[in-house]
Amino acid sequence: MGKAVIIFSGGLDTTICVPLMREKGYEDISTVTVDVGQPATDVEQATERARIMGTDHHVLDVKDEFANEYCVPAIKANADYFGYPLSTAIARPLIGKRAAEKGVELGAEVFIHGCTGKGNDQFRIEHGLRMFAPEIPILAPVREMNLTRSWEIEYAEKVGAPIGQSKDKIWSIDENFWGRSIEGGRLEEPGYAPPEEIFEWTASFEDASDQPEEVEIEFSKGVPVKINGQSVTPRQSIEEANKIAGRNGVGRIDMMEDRMIGLKVRENYECPGAVLLITAHKALEALVSGHEERRFKALVDQQWAEMAYRGLWWDPFMEDLNAFIDSVNSRCTGKVRLRLFKSSLQVIGRDSDFALYSEADASFDDVESLPQSQMTGMVRVHGMASQLYKQQRG
Ligand code: ARG
Repeated sequence: MGKAVIIFSGGLDTTICVPLMREKGYEDISTVTVDVGQPATDVEQATERARIMGTDHHVLDVKDEFANEYCVPAIKANADYFGYPLSTAIARPLIGKRAAEKGVELGAEVFIHGCTGKGNDQFRIEHGLRMFAPEIPILAPVREMNLTRSWEIEYAEKVGAPIGQSKDKIWSIDENFWGRSIEGGRLEEPGYAPPEEIFEWTASFEDASDQPEEVEIEFSKGVPVKINGQSVTPRQSIEEANKIAGRNGVGRIDMMEDRMIGLKVRENYECPGAVLLITAHKALEALVSGHEERRFKALVDQQWAEMAYRGLWWDPFMEDLNAFIDSVNSRCTGKVRLRLFKSSLQVIGRDSDFALYSEADASFDDVESLPQSQMTGMVRVHGMASQLYKQQRG
């Protein structure tokens, strides 16, 4: 048996993959953790569990790549799948890609991931692996062996796999700096109100400050470059936006989501930074783009979200959509001011050298720039077809 490479988060599902693969006869096992900005303690826990189980362990830090190459396009595309800024979705292709490349380097004979058969991540991660290591077969024990969480816990205890407190953990959480997803337990019931304890990044209405906070975000070609006058990298902009929106209770999302396999499920997210940056970005686009562009961009953004949700990051259609999105964003340079207050977020000002707006033309007080009197003819022909139709029908 050759080398088995496990895409390893260090959670229950991927931890039990180690003894399971050993039972199948794989002696030579590497575990690969791709760091897209999940909590440092998760990355440390993965390393510790790998050490206990004696695998050849690798941590790949792709945080800046994730911010620059995945979150930035998401901002430009106003990433929105039924209200969800696609935080888990856009990280998965990158995890697949980097794990694939590492696997090839390590001489993997097989890849193993811990995704279940009901979610979207199996599609996204496997696609990333196949795109960049098409020859290497993939095993998904949780899916293929129909495993349940309670079976996994019992099995881990039997073989002495380090799963720590997994037993008491009710929520299944996925996290990177673009957002947190909280699933499982009673949250699966659409009628169950999310308990306060599931939220870690956003203040409750009660705890949020009693004073409104204003923030100014500056974009250059659709990319956030300054927050409150302070220069930021894309990653810093997201981290800072998470703090600002989070402390004001902005960015909680409770929604019904239609999964790729056709399942409708209830989902909870906290995406404070994504909500703040995308709200600001949309406001700037509205200032610098024309009417037809805005209408069409909304359609393009929606298609982009569908493709991103499915993890089809390298599809030619995605390239086409990004080409249009980048073209619109080439003029998306300027500043947006927003006010946050107890979970509300309002745009209160915008400014750009590329604004397709003329104060003189729009003003009721200016009679020189665009004289009202010239409009008479234009107004007269408005609705001609409707008039003719009415005449015909009598
Ligand atoms: N439903 C979301 C998506 O498909 C998030 C899934 C995250 N996984 C988790 N275990 N919380 O993008």
